[in-house]
Amino acid sequence: MTAQLIDGNALARQVRAEVVDRVARLKARGVQPHLAIVLVGDDPASQVYVKHKVADSEQTGLQATLDRLPVDTTEDALLARIRALNADAKVHGILVQLPLPKHMNAQRVIEAIAPHKDVDGFHVANAGALMVGQPGFVSCTPYGCLKMLESIGVDLKGKNAVVLGRSNIVGKPMALLLLQKNATVTVCHSGTRDLKAHTLQADVIVAAVGKRNVLTADMVKPGAVVIDVGMNRNDEGKLCGDVDFDAVKEVASWITPVPGGVGPMTRAMLLVNTLEAAERASG
Ligand code: GUN
Repeated sequence: MTAQLIDGNALARQVRAEVVDRVARLKARGVQPHLAIVLVGDDPASQVYVKHKVADSEQTGLQATLDRLPVDTTEDALLARIRALNADAKVHGILVQLPLPKHMNAQRVIEAIAPHKDVDGFHVANAGALMVGQPGFVSCTPYGCLKMLESIGVDLKGKNAVVLGRSNIVGKPMALLLLQKNATVTVCHSGTRDLKAHTLQADVIVAAVGKRNVLTADMVKPGAVVIDVGMNRNDEGKLCGDVDFDAVKEVASWITPVPGGVGPMTRAMLLVNTLEAAERASG
């Protein structure tokens, strides 16, 4: 069997087109959705990510403003900046790019963002809202993965879903989203004893470990759906995921490529969350 590809670029284009329509409706009511991005320091990867976020926003009609703060900014100064953005009614979404410089406590900084403007979904109030099934903001990567699963029409009810990785940003929220859809969810991690025994039971596998070839073909049940969140480099420096794509695609029914899979969807879901924040704020 050769798996069908879940095309993240194509799906992200659809999501962005919907954002454009909804932005137009908001603008017709005099509301300009606005994402404020704060970047501290000059980490090269962060600069690229932030540039994409600004460009994505502008291309879909969202206003994006970028605050660049020097690497030696104090945590107090950053917190003061966040408080000002919290108080600014024209700002609907706030995103503080991570990682922060080592002298800052990232969790304290995230908790300073007003939960109703936390479009990353990292605030403990949004994590808690997801846990109890209340509306909030869902972290963009797992939210994008769920959209990809929905796009292929897979009914998750009663399915065995295995999440590889337990990060606060991907693994844990992904598990909760799958649980909400009535899947039977297993979260595997570095302490898991027999990973293959778990993955071989899975109808759906989401790999979010951050290590190449974590999932090989012998670990996948024929017909399983495989979502690859990984962003790694192989020996030739080429971008690759956590999944041994060439081999696993011969076993799976559906698979996401890297690049062109989860990455574009993560970017698109930030636009959705920002738009949602603006819609909620304007009733
Ligand atoms: N750094 C890498 N990915 C992300 C993200 O999704 N949000 C934020 N705030 N920082 C990041």
